[in-house]
Amino acid sequence: MILYNHECYMDAPTRALAGRAETEFRNRFEREPDVIARAPGRLEMLGGHTDYSEGFIMALAIERATVVAAGERDDLHLRAWSDCDETEASFELSRLDEGPWGRWWDYVAGVAQELAAEGCEVPGADLAIVSDVPVGGGVSSSAAIEVATAIALSTLAECSIDPETLALLCQRAENEFVGMRCGILDQFTSVFARTERVLWLDCRTLKRRLVKMGSDEARFVVCDTKKPRELVGSAYNERRAQCEQASELLGVRTLRDVDEPTLDANADLLGGTLLRRARHVVTENQRVQQGVKVLEAGDVEALGTLLNQSHLSLRDNYEVSCRELEAMREAALEATGCFGARLIGAGFGGCVLALVRAEAEDEFITTVARRYETQTGLGPAIFGTDAADGAGLIPADGED
Ligand code: GLA
Repeated sequence: MILYNHECYMDAPTRALAGRAETEFRNRFEREPDVIARAPGRLEMLGGHTDYSEGFIMALAIERATVVAAGERDDLHLRAWSDCDETEASFELSRLDEGPWGRWWDYVAGVAQELAAEGCEVPGADLAIVSDVPVGGGVSSSAAIEVATAIALSTLAECSIDPETLALLCQRAENEFVGMRCGILDQFTSVFARTERVLWLDCRTLKRRLVKMGSDEARFVVCDTKKPRELVGSAYNERRAQCEQASELLGVRTLRDVDEPTLDANADLLGGTLLRRARHVVTENQRVQQGVKVLEAGDVEALGTLLNQSHLSLRDNYEVSCRELEAMREAALEATGCFGARLIGAGFGGCVLALVRAEAEDEFITTVARRYETQTGLGPAIFGTDAADGAGLIPADGED
């Protein structure tokens, strides 16, 4: 039997998170956990809103993760506690149809449902969930909780499940149980990312490559606007529907199958809004393919330019930016050492990714935070990260 078997590397933050999850589990359930699983948040470097049009993406895992400590129960209840709001949820595995509840445990319940649909006999379980992934910030706290829960529950069930199936079932949990029609970017990155690498993924064929970065001149700096993203679900689903409508009008399966000359030739057929949406997807796919080349070549200036072009297209063609994201990006571009910056994730709030000269990072963080706060009155959270490892089990003895 092949269980999900990637063991996490154990750096200091992972060790600390795992320790916290274990302690919370012990305090709440008065026994030791049987398994501990970790799944990171992600940064989309290029390929914004291309995944659900079967396009290309480039993404990496951040050094922030969600850790789930889990222990089997002898009934069919799931009891889960999370440090995101210090609440505990309890529900029966046979009554998941009572959800969704509009709370964080929808991700847990959705994953349990999809694991069962894969033929996995999910046992009752107690879960303690701790995380340092910013919630609602565009770095995919949702995929992190889904993937860590799926690894923990499938391991408890001794269910043989390969990583690709696991990522796909987590996406289905979000599409079907939670009702967010996301693509595959978040879950695949959380599962398949590796240190010092950027994941390139063809979202149609699921062919992927881990691209080694050709330079260590730049750091990834995540700039969280702290602007809540309340309407993101509906606006996201609307963008997705517009892409589907555009491909239907063009007579293709998805926008993956379209190039710019075809768009220009069909401008009248599509009309203003659909033409802009489609133009974003088509040009963003090209930027990803160029991005792989410049990343491998270590050309951080060119990478920064692609990030900037991506942002402008997301803002003007896809219309998923907002005042706070613009203020953050402007502050980033004005600061010393910034090669380029773009909004990441769904948009409408959340984070900007800035590519910053490594030596300038500390000063960058201080000046951007100050400028952003003066502009908007919101206190941001800004942190640098390297490309981190993908999801896995924490070794039982906590050793490296
Ligand atoms: C969200 C979704 C992803 C992807 C990004 C935008 O994070 O969950 O599937 O569409 O937005 O690139």
